Amino acid sequence: MKNSPMQVPLEDELGDVLDKALSRAGLSPDQAAARSGVEVSRLRDALDWRSELDCRELGALAALLGLNEVGLCALASGSYPLPEIAGLPFCLHPLRMPHGIGVANAYIISECCGSGGILFDTGPGLEALLAGWPSRIQKLDAVFLTHVEPEHAGGLCEVTRHFRAEHAFSPAPTGSPCHREMVDAQSWENGRFRVTALSTPGHAAAHNCYLVESAGARRGRSLLISGDLLFAGSVGCPLHCAERLNASLGRLLSSLPEDTVIAPGHGPLTTLANERRYNPFLR
Ligand SMILES: [Fe+2]
Repeated sequence: MKNSPMQVPLEDELGDVLDKALSRAGLSPDQAAARSGVEVSRLRDALDWRSELDCRELGALAALLGLNEVGLCALASGSYPLPEIAGLPFCLHPLRMPHGIGVANAYIISECCGSGGILFDTGPGLEALLAGWPSRIQKLDAVFLTHVEPEHAGGLCEVTRHFRAEHAFSPAPTGSPCHREMVDAQSWENGRFRVTALSTPGHAAAHNCYLVESAGARRGRSLLISGDLLFAGSVGCPLHCAERLNASLGRLLSSLPEDTVIAPGHGPLTTLANERRYNPFLR
């Protein structure tokens, strides 16, 4: 599978990344401008997605805000690098669904022939899923939610019924009869795939990433469904807790192989190695 950066825009532009970094540092634009030596009007323009910041100014902001300067400059010039994605031991079907002003991703994983699969997140709901659904996939063995938000978990009961999924998992009990909790380090396996939950709070109090591997002998690269924790070129908003989000990112970086493919809740596919090298927030 090839990444198509022309077709799948990054979730965050430079202005979004600077906005998240200012919040993380607890600085206003005026404070950041004063401390970095960047003119405040130019910083405000960048925050309004009208950046004319040059690499010297971006370097000063990166130093102040603890960001990866190379990745920040690449974002600013519209040339954030994305890796080619190959070597997964199964087929990965990204489903990109419009929701509000954005696009949310769900993912089907299947053997490359056969009609069964497993689904990660449901997007805004069944109708949106069906709009891009591959006709080959007729039945789901299981559905996994990264977190419960309308753009990622819409219509779960309807989706499980429609595809006769016997199992559905979420990171926390919600009282719904359609799914049950999958806790940290818990695994599910169907003889073809093994899915292991990693509890990764921060964007939401209850948020799981899922590590997907071929069942049995390990072969090929692993895949991480990263939800709204880690994106190509950015990280999720710490709607629940910034410190916990940082701890969750640290856990991924210290525990997963470099060649792990990352499938985020928004934006294009990437790899852990690529994000280690360029992601502004993973310096
Ligand atoms: Fe999201």
